Amino acid sequence: MNGELRLRLFAKFIIHISLLLWQLSHEFKFQTTAQNTTDLPLPPEEVSTLKIVANGLGYKGSQESFSKTNCTVKGSSYHYEVGVYCNCSFNDNTTCHINEIEWINKGLDGYLPEEVANLTYLESLRLYSNEIKGEIPATLGNLSRLRHLDLSNNQLNGPINLGNLMLRILYLENNLFTGPIPPSLGNMKDLVVLSLYRNQLNGSLPPELGKLTKLQTLYLYENQLSGSLPLELGKLTSLKILYLYKNQLSGSLPPELGNLRSLFALDLSENQLSGPLPRELGKLTSLEYL
Ligand SMILES: *[C@@H]1O[C@H](CO)[C@@H](O)[C@H](O)[C@H]1NC(C)=O
Ligand SMILES: *[C@@H]1O[C@H](CO)[C@@H](O)[C@H](O)[C@H]1NC(C)=O
Ligand SMILES: *[C@@H]1O[C@H](CO)[C@@H](O)[C@H](O)[C@H]1NC(C)=O
Ligand SMILES: *[C@@H]1O[C@H](CO)[C@@H](O)[C@H](O)[C@H]1NC(C)=O
Ligand SMILES: *[C@@H]1O[C@H](CO)[C@@H](O)[C@H](O)[C@H]1NC(C)=O
Ligand SMILES: *[C@@H]1O[C@H](CO)[C@@H](O)[C@H](O)[C@H]1NC(C)=O
Ligand SMILES: *[C@@H]1O[C@H](CO)[C@@H](O)[C@H](O)[C@H]1NC(C)=O
Repeated sequence: MNGELRLRLFAKFIIHISLLLWQLSHEFKFQTTAQNTTDLPLPPEEVSTLKIVANGLGYKGSQESFSKTNCTVKGSSYHYEVGVYCNCSFNDNTTCHINEIEWINKGLDGYLPEEVANLTYLESLRLYSNEIKGEIPATLGNLSRLRHLDLSNNQLNGPINLGNLMLRILYLENNLFTGPIPPSLGNMKDLVVLSLYRNQLNGSLPPELGKLTKLQTLYLYENQLSGSLPLELGKLTSLKILYLYKNQLSGSLPPELGNLRSLFALDLSENQLSGPLPRELGKLTSLEYL
């Protein structure tokens, strides 16, 4: 690099940094003056419910964190507490409700209290990589706005009981869940990701899974699933990744699997599946792992 170019680059760098600093001070000014006019109240019963949920989960933050009654604007979104976000567009932008909780890797070692169902505006609940124990509370199924649920990498046990939730994204892998894959999962018609791997699920794959026509990722590996593959799996035409390895699945592969036009990764190994690979499967140009 010659000296002149280096100098020009350096000058450019200085201009860039100055702009950035100006922008930052500007934004900072905006935030400090805007704060008193844009903080918006959260209903007190939602605050008290949040406190109950946090306590039940074993949240380690200070209790003062839950004494505020307002959500605070931050850029274009509102937040209440670390990892707790609000939607403040209710009642003509005068009322907030908690719509997202994201406490990841926070050492939570309690349980998920049934009061979580009182946070009725919750759209996303992400509590992965903690040590949460116990069962999924039966009330969780009441959260009709919930779209994204991630409880993976915890120590949850009992059955997978999600009532009538209508999720788009469901991660429950790496827990201690037992029992069957509930056939009612087939009713979550918008489901895009279904990840239940590394649990202790048994029984056979419910044919109802074939109703999940938007499903792109299906991870059921490292469970104790048995029985044969339902031919309905062939209806999952959006499916890109299908990992069923390390189960006790048996029987021959249904030819309908050849309809999985979007599939590019398939792993059925370490099962007792037999018979020929459906000829149609060989036609999948994008198939990478088998
Ligand atoms: C917001 O706070 C600033 C500085 O503290 C103050 O000058 C202004 O009057 C306040 N605005 C409202 C609407 O309370
Ligand atoms: C909360 O927001 C309301 C409405 O904007 C405001 O009147 C009140 O002063 C705020 N309270 C706190 C503690 O910020
Ligand atoms: C906030 O809630 C309103 C009303 O339910 C909804 O239309 C909007 O998409 C939500 N906004 C966000 C950012 O979630
Ligand atoms: C609420 O706020 C949003 C974003 O600032 C704005 O687009 C919308 O028009 C507001 N709605 C009402 C009813 O004031
Ligand atoms: C949760 O909702 C139920 C039913 O609406 C109500 O009876 C209960 O008191 C609520 N619990 C809390 C902690 O708000
Ligand atoms: C949730 O659903 C259960 C039944 O599944 C019901 O008993 C309960 O009152 C509902 N409401 C709340 C807030 O949990
Ligand atoms: C699944 O495991 C449970 C014990 O967790 C057992 O009671 C049940 O019979 C098993 N079901 C099947 C189909 O293997």
